[in-house]
Amino acid sequence: MKIYKTTKGLENALRVLRAESKTIGLVPTMGALHAGHLSLVERCVAENDVCVVSVFVNPTQFNNQTDLEKYPRTLEADAALLAGAKCSILFAPSVKQIYPKPDTRVFDFGQLDKVMEGVHRPGHFNGVGQVVSRLFDIVKPGKAYFGEKDYQQLAIIRKMVKDYKYPIEIVGCPIVREKDGMALSSRNMRLSKDERKRAVRISQTLFKSVEMAATKSLEEVKQWVIDEINKDSILNVEYYDIVNSETMQSVKSWKDADKITGCITVYCGEVRLIDNIQYKK
Ligand code: PAF
Repeated sequence: MKIYKTTKGLENALRVLRAESKTIGLVPTMGALHAGHLSLVERCVAENDVCVVSVFVNPTQFNNQTDLEKYPRTLEADAALLAGAKCSILFAPSVKQIYPKPDTRVFDFGQLDKVMEGVHRPGHFNGVGQVVSRLFDIVKPGKAYFGEKDYQQLAIIRKMVKDYKYPIEIVGCPIVREKDGMALSSRNMRLSKDERKRAVRISQTLFKSVEMAATKSLEEVKQWVIDEINKDSILNVEYYDIVNSETMQSVKSWKDADKITGCITVYCGEVRLIDNIQYKK
């Protein structure tokens, strides 16, 4: 595995590979890699001649300075995991390499970022748009891989690719869960043993709610999920929205859309966790 820390270095290497007609896949990450990321890398390795993984904690998508400072940075361990997963190239740039000058671009994601994470993390998706488009321009991949855990982010990236006519196929990959159901996340590293044990209530409640959806109204299920999770004093639901899986807009009844997803954000102590569940696929 080659490691590049500069944009020029990576661009030069990729130019040579492209001239040899190699197909290039990209997995953008912020590091602190876990089995969820590795499932994206595995798929990228299987489907492309060259798998590029970027590890970059993007400051423009953090609306909270403490969250940015506390975000885990584990580059050495990440590099070892990626080498083991047969990744071809690790791109680990500095902020200056990605943003030689401040990025002032403002993206229009229509209604997609006017709800859920967009409301609770103002500016977050604009920052995601900035960094992902920068990575697309640098790497010029044929395919790019993103996890379905960040469900709204995936919808936003698909829109950006369509609106800006990037010739890139976006591949959404399923959430990877621990044995007990907890969705894998780099933020889980920040949970104490006790918090981790109690946080499983989030996914377990979501799973039960899918069974309830057969007999209960959407509003009943939604309220039940919130109440059930909040019963544990360490957990605090920031929002639970049941949405049209394509438009991300709230639906009021199970009949309102063909595909329906529940998206949740919960504070477990000080750690902000997100998860989602499909009611109608
Ligand atoms: O999902 C993430 O880890 C990040 O938002 C991404 C897509 C790597 C952009 O920084």
